[in-house]
Amino acid sequence: MKIVVDTNLCSGHARCAAHAPQLIALDDSGFADISDPEVPAGQEGLAREAAAACPERAIKLIDSHEV
Ligand code: F3S
Repeated sequence: MKIVVDTNLCSGHARCAAHAPQLIALDDSGFADISDPEVPAGQEGLAREAAAACPERAIKLIDSHEV
């Protein structure tokens, strides 16, 4: 699974990083910053939580079988 942020939608709510700090950091402006989109095994649930937490739906998950 990969996790990416749609920078056009992200408006800095920071809920994603609060839910999954292992996967998502915030840049200097408070926007989601994902340095490594590959979600480590076992952290898929965390990734889903982070995506669900974003009110802008800016966090996208890509299942490996879809790419
Ligand atoms: Fe941005 Fe949503 Fe996170 S608006 S900072 S991706 S909670």
